[in-house]
Amino acid sequence: MATLRDVLKNTESMLHQHIAYSLDEAKLEARFILEYVLKINQKEMIQENGRLLDGEDQAQIQSITDKRISGIPLPYLLGEWSFYGRTFKVNRNVLIPRADTEILIEKVLSKINKRDAFNILDLGCGTGIIGITLALERPLSKVMLIDQSEDALKNTKENLALHQAPNITIQKSDWFGTLAKTKFDVIVSNPPYLEDNDPHLLEDLKYEPIHALTSGPTGMTAIAHIIENAKNHMNRDAWLFIEHGYNQAEIAKDLFEKNGYQHIEHAKDIHGIHRVTFGQYSIV
Ligand SMILES: C[S@@+](CC[C@H](N)C(=O)[O-])C[C@H]1O[C@@H](n2cnc3c(N)ncnc32)[C@H](O)[C@@H]1O
Repeated sequence: MATLRDVLKNTESMLHQHIAYSLDEAKLEARFILEYVLKINQKEMIQENGRLLDGEDQAQIQSITDKRISGIPLPYLLGEWSFYGRTFKVNRNVLIPRADTEILIEKVLSKINKRDAFNILDLGCGTGIIGITLALERPLSKVMLIDQSEDALKNTKENLALHQAPNITIQKSDWFGTLAKTKFDVIVSNPPYLEDNDPHLLEDLKYEPIHALTSGPTGMTAIAHIIENAKNHMNRDAWLFIEHGYNQAEIAKDLFEKNGYQHIEHAKDIHGIHRVTFGQYSIV
């Protein structure tokens, strides 16, 4: 038998030794593994750090750690991940929630007053982190979540059941394909935006679904399609928000301009890189 403190230290050092990331990241992931297996929170981890762990718990911690060391991302091993202060279920049919997408949420929320009853569209919803977060943060608004992947939508529905937002509808569609003349006040998308032959697809991204990652030879196919076609589904003065790659901000801005959007801006990620572009459409 070993104490929680000993198992935590051992897990941290195994992760740090075998995965090329910082000690801080190893500590964070080790904590997540123990919290998940022992079903306790961060405060209880500290309070109970002298507690003896039974063999079954230690074996489960070891098994998750071994799989993590083999390269599988932790959210897929735990089946859940945190986004904007809430936990979302995550399986291998969906992109893992990224902290960068919280910047997109902040920007969208800055354009929607708590008392607004807007129609919002989340295109390419995956887990549903964007649409569900917006529905929970702006309960008077109605949010439609769309994805082309049936398997991804199963995950979206699990998260809807978990978070119980009554103001959400979910629809299978190839982008705007099934929307007829439906219009929105806000359209948000974190679409696939990597080049088809991006080298990361063979490395750190190899466990995530390709339909969530790539979009043509330059990575811009989905972004261009959304910017061009969103106009047909926007009420007067509606906003379109797009998350994109580190080197796509200027191309996205050009597309917004060419398509008649105004008040175009970018938002930066924590590294100071423009990762979100948004604009308003008033020609309706
Ligand atoms: C980068 S992931 C974003 C997932 C989630 N919104 C997030 O931010 O974590 C892109 C999503 O777009 C979906 N997608 C790809 N092509 C699509 C299409 N033609 N129509 C609708 N959704 C599509 C993928 O299935 C995937 O779930």
